[in-house]
Amino acid sequence: MKPNPLLDLLSDHRIHSGESLAKQLGVSRTAVWKQIRKVEAEGIEIKTIRGQGYQLVTALDLLDRQKIVAKLVGACSDEVDVVVLKEVDSTNAEVARRLSGSEAAMPVVLADAQTEGRGRRGRNWSSPKGQNLYMSMGLTLRGGFEGLSGLSLVLGVAVVRALGALGVTGAGLKWPNDLYAGGKKFGGILVEIQGELQEGQVQVIAGLGINVHMTAADDVDQPWTSLAKHWPDHGWVRNDLAASVIVEVAKVMEQFQRGGFSEFRDEWQRRDIFHGQPLAAKDGALAGIGAGVDAGGNYLLDTDDGQLSVMAGDISLRVTE
Ligand code: BTN
Repeated sequence: MKPNPLLDLLSDHRIHSGESLAKQLGVSRTAVWKQIRKVEAEGIEIKTIRGQGYQLVTALDLLDRQKIVAKLVGACSDEVDVVVLKEVDSTNAEVARRLSGSEAAMPVVLADAQTEGRGRRGRNWSSPKGQNLYMSMGLTLRGGFEGLSGLSLVLGVAVVRALGALGVTGAGLKWPNDLYAGGKKFGGILVEIQGELQEGQVQVIAGLGINVHMTAADDVDQPWTSLAKHWPDHGWVRNDLAASVIVEVAKVMEQFQRGGFSEFRDEWQRRDIFHGQPLAAKDGALAGIGAGVDAGGNYLLDTDDGQLSVMAGDISLRVTE
């Protein structure tokens, strides 16, 4: 979303007269009124108070490319090309469309809303406007497809680190790449492999959805939470969160390329919400106790037949009587 000087002025939620807005923006009062109508048409509520002026009603946390990029300086701004859109079908799909034309090592697309947000295993991803983070990154990795093992887990570690950098601890990881807090999911990662380029370089799109401000949703079919629900006193700002995640993803990618998943295994296991829990995998065909991940990022279950590893699919808590 482009920066909007009118909304910047109104963002203190005080009453601003048409005259003062016009003066500060260097336009006529009619132009101010037209801008107000335009913003309202985009779903932002502004109260008109007779004889006094305008007051912003909707709580605003707008994505702003400049603010995100400013926070990358000194970390990874040279490698990253950030695009912020108001609406897109899916940020993963948008990165795929842009990949061949991008010079950047890591193209990043964020959107305020997705009309066809995609989750893992063909599920939809609820993507209401302005509330959450919908972000995809194009990653190019050396080492062919074998070099990808554990990548999606590493991305989960990056998000946990990003939250830590913002002063938030206590986020958990559910294999393979769900983000959890208080036993409920607040985010997920969708890794889509694009293909192999020359010399064993593999292109991957990593899509990240984090529920930030969402407090209600009728299209989510599992227990969920959001950053604002679980950590209500934090004062969540999506630009800060996006920048923190981009910085941490760029860092972990470098570390992952050097040392592979083993560099992250312990850190991932410390966040494993299922460790020591009775679990079911392979649609209930396999039962065991959660025992962390192996060196390739596969999930380990202690079963009656010894330790077995789960390579794909979902694992879930087994309800015991
Ligand atoms: C999951 O099922 O847990 C993964 C969800 C991934 C959702 C994100 S939102 C940004 C990106 N664009 C998509 O269409 N999906 C991912």
